[in-house]
Amino acid sequence: MVLDKTKKLVGLSPMEGVTDSVFRQVLCRIGRPDIFLTEFLNVDGYCSKGKKHVVHRISFTEEEKPLIIQLWGNTPEYYEKTIDGIMQDGLKPDGIDINMGCSVKDVLSGGRGSALINNPGLAKEIIESAKIGCAKYNLPLSVKTRIGYDQIDTENWIGFLLEQHLDMITVHGRTSKQTYTTPANWEEIGKCIPLRDKISPTTLILGNGDLKSKKEGDSYVKKYNLDGYLIGRQVMNNPWVFAGRESADVSKQEKIQTFLLHLDLYEKTFVDRKPFAFEKKYVKAYLSDFEGVNELRREILLTEDIASMREILYRELDN
Ligand SMILES: Cc1cc2nc3c(=O)[nH]c(=O)nc-3n(C[C@H](O)[C@H](O)[C@H](O)COP(=O)(O)O)c2cc1C
Repeated sequence: MVLDKTKKLVGLSPMEGVTDSVFRQVLCRIGRPDIFLTEFLNVDGYCSKGKKHVVHRISFTEEEKPLIIQLWGNTPEYYEKTIDGIMQDGLKPDGIDINMGCSVKDVLSGGRGSALINNPGLAKEIIESAKIGCAKYNLPLSVKTRIGYDQIDTENWIGFLLEQHLDMITVHGRTSKQTYTTPANWEEIGKCIPLRDKISPTTLILGNGDLKSKKEGDSYVKKYNLDGYLIGRQVMNNPWVFAGRESADVSKQEKIQTFLLHLDLYEKTFVDRKPFAFEKKYVKAYLSDFEGVNELRREILLTEDIASMREILYRELDN
């Protein structure tokens, strides 16, 4: 069982368009977390004719396990159907997570993501449908959410989720309205632990928000007795964060080699499904903190194919 109460869990927070299978495979080689979550998959899209356009979001390789597939949407019956589909397609995730935390306008507009905080009745129906799906395959079920919608409502909202007896809840320490404008409120995340102990002692509680290192995450785990944490955006400043290394301590050569590895894995995994230009978003993540990096990045961003990018990277390896 991946959600083990006896260990503190460190995970990669899901980031749509960023933490795809290729990026996760790179992390597996340079320093991986205990668990991965996939980018979120819309259940309506998956249960429609457009399925083939969205399945890349949940594809993964064996080495990325343990891995949890994250779903979103507000049609309850599609959760069970999607879980059936995933299993019938031969994917073997280690758990299913429901997104009840996204604060992006398009997601909120349909009453989805963190808008579900305002609609516990629908949230309950969604959880029930996912529970039925998960029970068939013995998969744990979790929810990733925030501490409220337009105001902090930890006790009510997290209390309600705890009453659903989920296997795990990840709490991002901001309200939906706060998007990213205020620092994450770890004290509020900490309040979930006594709540959990009272309502659903077997549910794991992970914290999330603004973590810059494992050291920082570990200190919150200790302070609030959390079961672990997820790190998101910092991995794009420092892909070595799960190895416990600072970007400044990784050599230019290692950074370039890691970017070359990313390009190889992209060609193996996604070359027909994702345009090459998408990969440019990783340039800054891998290539930073060394002399001449700004010029190098500028040159790389002007390339129009992988071969040209590789040529520049190999030239720099020898410099
Ligand atoms: C580009 C981007 C995409 C994201 N996509 C998702 C997603 O698909 N599912 C999800 O639950 N959260 C998503 N998030 C939220 C992050 O997982 C995380 O909760 C948030 O960024 C706070 O953690 P951090 O400060 O460590 O980044 C996304 C965030 C960003 C910046």
